[in-house]
Amino acid sequence: MLIPVVLAGGAGTRLWPMSRASHPKQFLPISGRRSMLVETLARFDSLSPAAPIVVCQDAHRFLVAEQLREAGVTGDILLEPALRNTAPAIALAALQAFDRDENALMLVLPADHAVADPKALIEAIAPARAAAEQGRLVTFGVSPTRAETGYGYIEAAETPSADSAVPIRRFVEKPDAETAQSYLDSGRYLWNSGMFLMRADRYLQALERQRSAMLSAVKSAWEARQVDLDFLRVGAEAFSACEAESIDYAVMEDAPDASVVALDAGWSDVGSWQSLWEISARDEDDNALRGDVIVDGVSGSLIHSESRLVAAIGVSDLMIVETPDAVMVAHRDASQAVKRVAETLKRQN
Ligand code: GDD
Ligand code: MG
Repeated sequence: MLIPVVLAGGAGTRLWPMSRASHPKQFLPISGRRSMLVETLARFDSLSPAAPIVVCQDAHRFLVAEQLREAGVTGDILLEPALRNTAPAIALAALQAFDRDENALMLVLPADHAVADPKALIEAIAPARAAAEQGRLVTFGVSPTRAETGYGYIEAAETPSADSAVPIRRFVEKPDAETAQSYLDSGRYLWNSGMFLMRADRYLQALERQRSAMLSAVKSAWEARQVDLDFLRVGAEAFSACEAESIDYAVMEDAPDASVVALDAGWSDVGSWQSLWEISARDEDDNALRGDVIVDGVSGSLIHSESRLVAAIGVSDLMIVETPDAVMVAHRDASQAVKRVAETLKRQN
């Protein structure tokens, strides 16, 4: 049984003002016609996977339920009383998956990534699945194009392939800029896409080995779970006591049994306005224009309008984002700094 496990707990602050605390980017139509969550679920229709498990914040439960209905999908919705990053969130899903089937495979999917060529992604599942069935923790590795410090880097033990999973020699999460540059220059590293395929029991064993206190806290939270309408809410006290750490640090960096399948599917984590500009259709002046927008002598810009006409004249390399209650204007180079505005607003509220 292959169970999609969708991680939908993130905040998406670098896509402010479109992405908000109440409506983070995974619930919005950022890169397609439908919300990123719905697109994520729909991407794997042809695999006919088992009912998905969506793990999200309590505050977003009705939004998630509504979007699952929109996607025509019935699944389990696990609610986290506090955000403890991805390692505990995936552990909750693993306990649920294991309850359903002791041999369950989890296809772990961030709810907020774009994939231009979903067919290539589907094709990568078969070799990943074969390795996962043999107990490997499998990642999907993407050829890097810049010395990004926000990603995990994977060095495979053999030449990476799209047709088979090869063992990972080294997994380094979020290296510093110098190290990232040396990995890029070496040509031997792939980016970790953040999608994983693994047996639920193997993931739990890895946590037991590497983060036993985390696993105990998650198990206590799981045992204290309560059903609330269509949701499964885990024990708040135990889960809050769990340390916050991502799967990348907690498990992948030290996993002796990890493998990677090379993925060339136009993957983007749409982490920022800059990356949205990169994956968008652009006019002859390299502008990505969304909504009611007029430009004159404008180049290299992303302009997004939701409720008013936006006109831009004689500017270049800007990001202009208009929403009913906020307007942002920034240089494309300042893409990463956008989250500081969201953080300032959070402190003020
Ligand atoms: N349910 C839940 N709970 N989901 C969460 C939580 C949580 O506490 N924290 C994060 N998520 C979701 C996010 O919404 C996102 O879809 C996914 O898990 C990954 O979390 P990010 O916070 O976006 O991770 P990252 O971008 O810093 O790094 C990861 O992704 C990179 C590729 O985009 C790592 O896996 C890197 O190695 C990888 O390169
Ligand atoms: Mg991310």
